[in-house]
Amino acid sequence: MGHSCTTRVFLATAMVITLLFQFGVAQAQDGFQLSLNESSAMHLLYKEWSNATPDFQSHLPGWGYNSSPCDPSHPWQGVRCLWKEWSNDSTRGDIYIVSLRMINSNLVGTLPPSIGMLQSLVTISIQESPRLVGVLDELGNLQSVNSLKIFGTGVSGRVPLTIASSTFLQTLDLSRNKLDGEIAGSLLDVPPGLQKVNMSWNKFGGALQQNMFLNKKSLSQVDFSNNHFNGSLPNFSPSVTLIDFSNNSFSGVLPNFTQLQSIDFLNLSTNQLVGVINPTSVFNTTIGATKLDLSYNKFNGSLPNLEFMTNLQILNLSYNNFDVGSFPLWTVNLTNLKSLSLNGNNINGSLDVSKLGSTLQQLDLKFNNISNVHYNGLVKGVKTVIRLQGNPYCVHSPNTDLKRCVCEQDCMDTEQDLNNNIKTIIITVVICGVLLAIIITISATLFWKTKREQQYLLLEVQQKFLQYDVKPTLFTFHELQVATKNFHSSMILGEGSFGVVYKGILSNGNHIAIKQLFNMDAQKDIDDFLNEVVLLTSVKHRNLVNLKGCCLHKDQRWLLYEYVENYDIAQVLFDHKDGLFLNWSQRLNICLGVAHGLHYLHALSQPSIIHRDIKASNVLLDTTFNAKIADFGLALLFPDEQSHVTTTHVAGSRGYLAPEYATMGQVSAKTDVYSFGVLMLEIISGRRNIDFNLPRDKIYLSKWAWKLHIEDNLMELVDSTLTLTQIEELEIKRVINIALLCSQRLSENRPTMAQVVAMIQGNTDIESEVANSLVDREGEDTLSYDHVAMDGSNLNLISIPEDSSVRMFHGPLSSTIDLD
Ligand SMILES: *[C@@H]1O[C@H](CO)[C@@H](O)[C@H](O)[C@H]1NC(C)=O
Ligand SMILES: *[C@@H]1O[C@H](CO)[C@@H](O)[C@H](O)[C@H]1NC(C)=O
Ligand SMILES: *[C@@H]1O[C@H](CO)[C@@H](O)[C@H](O)[C@H]1NC(C)=O
Ligand SMILES: *[C@@H]1O[C@H](CO)[C@@H](O)[C@H](O)[C@H]1NC(C)=O
Ligand SMILES: *[C@@H]1O[C@H](CO)[C@@H](O)[C@H](O)[C@H]1NC(C)=O
Ligand SMILES: *[C@@H]1O[C@H](CO)[C@@H](O)[C@H](O)[C@H]1NC(C)=O
Ligand SMILES: *[C@@H]1O[C@H](CO)[C@@H](O)[C@H](O)[C@H]1NC(C)=O
Ligand SMILES: *[C@@H]1O[C@H](CO)[C@@H](O)[C@H](O)[C@H]1NC(C)=O
Ligand SMILES: *[C@@H]1O[C@H](CO)[C@@H](O)[C@H](O)[C@H]1NC(C)=O
Ligand SMILES: *[C@@H]1O[C@H](CO)[C@@H](O)[C@H](O)[C@H]1NC(C)=O
Ligand SMILES: *[C@@H]1O[C@H](CO)[C@@H](O)[C@H](O)[C@H]1NC(C)=O
Ligand SMILES: *[C@@H]1O[C@H](CO)[C@@H](O)[C@H](O)[C@H]1NC(C)=O
Repeated sequence: MGHSCTTRVFLATAMVITLLFQFGVAQAQDGFQLSLNESSAMHLLYKEWSNATPDFQSHLPGWGYNSSPCDPSHPWQGVRCLWKEWSNDSTRGDIYIVSLRMINSNLVGTLPPSIGMLQSLVTISIQESPRLVGVLDELGNLQSVNSLKIFGTGVSGRVPLTIASSTFLQTLDLSRNKLDGEIAGSLLDVPPGLQKVNMSWNKFGGALQQNMFLNKKSLSQVDFSNNHFNGSLPNFSPSVTLIDFSNNSFSGVLPNFTQLQSIDFLNLSTNQLVGVINPTSVFNTTIGATKLDLSYNKFNGSLPNLEFMTNLQILNLSYNNFDVGSFPLWTVNLTNLKSLSLNGNNINGSLDVSKLGSTLQQLDLKFNNISNVHYNGLVKGVKTVIRLQGNPYCVHSPNTDLKRCVCEQDCMDTEQDLNNNIKTIIITVVICGVLLAIIITISATLFWKTKREQQYLLLEVQQKFLQYDVKPTLFTFHELQVATKNFHSSMILGEGSFGVVYKGILSNGNHIAIKQLFNMDAQKDIDDFLNEVVLLTSVKHRNLVNLKGCCLHKDQRWLLYEYVENYDIAQVLFDHKDGLFLNWSQRLNICLGVAHGLHYLHALSQPSIIHRDIKASNVLLDTTFNAKIADFGLALLFPDEQSHVTTTHVAGSRGYLAPEYATMGQVSAKTDVYSFGVLMLEIISGRRNIDFNLPRDKIYLSKWAWKLHIEDNLMELVDSTLTLTQIEELEIKRVINIALLCSQRLSENRPTMAQVVAMIQGNTDIESEVANSLVDREGEDTLSYDHVAMDGSNLNLISIPEDSSVRMFHGPLSSTIDLD
């Protein structure tokens, strides 16, 4: 007995030690450390979820006890880390877990309290895991959260009072869970930056604080629909664009919405709202929503005349206690109106179809008192679907015919139109008619539905563009099909790390490059995608390939770029396509162009953009050999895709990777500077940065360049096919030095792109400093490079003198890692 007990204690201790050992081992990487708290918390999440979740390893590859969540060579799916150097020593630093994205992972288990230990989390996104249970209590402790999305799960209980206490909170989506209780306290102090809050489809109840959404300058979307909230409606800040409070138990009258200057969507359907609506004291008369749904309430008085809300596309005032009288003809003046619902409103008299607005596609008038409809005989090709079920016109007709109750396409006036001489014919006609009508109804509904969804999407997109004041063109999928001859293989221009590129010829004869993005669906929702397309469209520079527009088709995402005529640097320089050859002044001009483009991306564009994949094949050349950088901004579109260099596309970009990026995944503007340095060396030497056909010491271009620098034999590097004047020789030496400066191992020693531009343009002050700093290194032993490339080979990693006393550029290392 005693023996087995001791054994157990021993085993338990051994397990704890093993676990600690594993955590301890896993957390440190090259002087960068993940805190024990965060490391343990992640392993506890793994422990909680891995047992019960079916197919855990295929949903969340990389997770396990044996590795650190932040090991770049073995990333945990959905986990993102931030590597932050100490300001006093750039080789050491801290690692923080900043993002947790479990999308469609179908997690089974509970949301363990240990999640509260992940104090650095900026993004939490746990979606579609109905069998994930537990409570949200611990999430209230996270003080850095910017985006908190937990939806489609089984989490229950109350929302902790501190849920919105992170002052950075912008997005809060807790929809479709099993949460209940009152919410007022939790959101009493809505963070000032909150933009979107979605609490829909839970079981929340109770009243809301009257002013909880007032004075929130950034608040844009509030979705509290499908709960049991009661009390009166709160006030909103003028910035709000979407309010969905439908399907609750809100009571009282409509509050004053006149100050809502940006409102686009307002749904208050299915509540207990009462009173007479005085339109101009509720809605601003100069602006208005495109969608307004006030159906299923208890509003009374006359039907509010909303004629001034000229943006309206969807208006639903069905099932209230309005005192309407005859059909409200003012709706004809709503020239954007597509869908009008006035069911159950006691509308009487007759309806004259010829007087309906021309944009109207759907008119619901069910359960009214309409006694007559004037089509003027049998009308074909009626554009508006009119539903009249439950009206005397429909009910009391002797030949109750679907064509009378639901008018689609062909509509019929009166009974006389039916030939009732021969019974069989009537029966046939009726049966055929019914069948036909059913078929028409179904297909029209389907057609209408997809069409409507597309229109909604387009609307939202246009809204977004307006908001940012840019206009990328939205192409339809059909246009792409035509332009690319249905994606014919002869139209393929190439395949990059992020997708296949087709050439397209638009109907106006313009040429265009069309890129299909890989795996967009799982990574991004439409909103994020559009945000970034909008950002990228506003980035314009003559050395950057211009983004023309985009296309959304089902799950697919397409980007359309300006078409650049003349191949890319790799094709011209290394493959001499079409016998092309570049002289020195053309090459210098290309270097300068790329430098300008990168400088723009790093320092001038808003937000600043790090390219992350500068290489010869990503720089296109137009007919006069001006450089145009392609594929910038894909880093924005694929924030999680750091691993693309380590996985599928190693060969393409290996050799361009800055050491700190290759080994530790650290990204900054200086990683682009490094790649640019390597690219310059290629342009000067006319060879690829890695060439296994060359003698051993020349295989790696940058390594060879540093060797020649130390041997003071730099001209050896220059492309032997170039014929150079004396002045050009001097220039070339200078440019090689700039390239070397850019490809230094320590990122803070590398110049910024602004400095590079100045140097290439011949700023002699900097130039002499360059010369000095490189001369100082002469004769020093090269330190063996201690970082090993990820596959264990020493591919791109050059050995350079480690000399901290000769630091020229002390510019701050821009830590531009995008946190979300
Ligand atoms: C780690 O967690 C413990 C307990 O939650 C806490 O007291 C401690 O401050 C945390 N340490 C760090 C470095 O956050
Ligand atoms: C450097 O800074 C870190 C925190 O930023 C600190 O923990 C460390 O002690 C400092 N090291 C030296 C040598 O000052
Ligand atoms: C809120 O969440 C629900 C369910 O997840 C979703 O259908 C709805 O579109 C969201 N609302 C907004 C405004 O995004
Ligand atoms: C509002 O909801 C709360 C909680 O569900 C309930 O206790 C209260 O009675 C409700 N008030 C009204 C007026 O229905
Ligand atoms: C209204 O909300 C309740 C509670 O979330 C839900 O069960 C019900 O299906 C919703 N009704 C409609 C018509 O959406
Ligand atoms: C408004 O909300 C109700 C209930 O949630 C929903 O059925 C209806 O489709 C919404 N209206 C619009 C125009 O989206
Ligand atoms: C209505 O909107 C206009 C345009 O934004 C604005 O100038 C005006 O102040 C608003 N009216 C009210 C009553 O807020
Ligand atoms: C609504 O607010 C506006 C300005 O905020 C004011 O001019 C108007 O009189 C208010 N309407 C009512 C009915 O209180
Ligand atoms: C509207 O309904 C309220 C009761 O909810 C009633 O007091 C009022 O007289 C009604 N107004 C009209 C115009 O019917
Ligand atoms: C109100 O009508 C609009 C358009 O006809 C429709 O989209 C919406 O779903 C309707 N609302 C409800 C609650 O049925
Ligand atoms: C229609 O209804 C209004 C008010 O409800 C009434 O005054 C009018 O007489 C009705 N018209 C007909 C033709 O029934
Ligand atoms: C539509 O607007 C015009 C111009 O404002 C007005 O003269 C006309 O009476 C309106 N039509 C209806 C049916 O209200």
